[in-house]
Amino acid sequence: MSIYQSNDILEVKSVSKSFKDLEVIKDVNIALREKEFVSIIGPSGCGKSTLFNIISGLMNPCEGMVFLENTDITGLSGRISYMQQKDLLLPWKSIIDNVTLPLKIKGIDKAKRNEQVKNYFELFGLSGFEDSYPSQLSGGMKQRASLMRAYMFSNQVMLLDEPFAGLDEITKTKMHKWLLEINEKLKTSCLLITHDVNEAIFLSDRIYVLSERPGRIIKELKIDIDKNLENLETTVEFNSIKRKIIGFMEEFQ
Ligand SMILES: Nc1ncnc2c1ncn2[C@@H]1O[C@H](COP(=O)(O)OP(=O)(O)O)[C@@H](O)[C@H]1O
Ligand SMILES: [Mg+2]
Repeated sequence: MSIYQSNDILEVKSVSKSFKDLEVIKDVNIALREKEFVSIIGPSGCGKSTLFNIISGLMNPCEGMVFLENTDITGLSGRISYMQQKDLLLPWKSIIDNVTLPLKIKGIDKAKRNEQVKNYFELFGLSGFEDSYPSQLSGGMKQRASLMRAYMFSNQVMLLDEPFAGLDEITKTKMHKWLLEINEKLKTSCLLITHDVNEAIFLSDRIYVLSERPGRIIKELKIDIDKNLENLETTVEFNSIKRKIIGFMEEFQ
């Protein structure tokens, strides 16, 4: 057993990464508690996707470590669920075949994996679309199917890299409300990358603000506002947090 013990489900300790002489992320420390929703917000190209590639084990850091429930998982993939930026559904496969892909990779046979996902179709608002193809779905539905596929891998810790970036504002707002409900039901701990400040405030319990490349954490904010307020985005509390975040980002450009 490790001498190092923490109550956090996921910990990123002093992670740095360079590609040849391009320094991309520098000494990043992140903690995620059970059932917490944490966003990472930062300018484009500051190393956010690289950070997720490291946390998911797809890539090794140059320095630092990643812990899942106090176990060192640095460089180990397969433990954490990851919806990558532009994670596309396979157009030639039906929705059920797309979302059960993680189960197929785990070696579960078709009858069992279809049984396993049956109840999730309603939760993800995709009942009746099991045998449809991605081209027959709206943008929001496609994103929900991609999310469902990620949750099928594991719903313990979820990494979401700009999952709503391509959606229109109304669909995006609906997806935000829905995602909070899903996480509540599935008891998932979530790390989200976004450059949409409103999205980060609406979804998160906490936000880390990253600097320009090399990405460093310049601020950590706790979001203590009531998410159920009518017209949340017009409230004084919301806008005061928003101004703060934008201020930090401008300061470190
Ligand atoms: N595999 C790689 N090899 C070389 N450079 C990379 C690689 N992956 C990312 N980069 C570079 O690292 C920087 C950060 O990229 P990325 O993590 O995708 O940023 P973000 O997700 O914040 O927009 C960019 O300059 C990108 O070109
Ligand atoms: Mg990215």
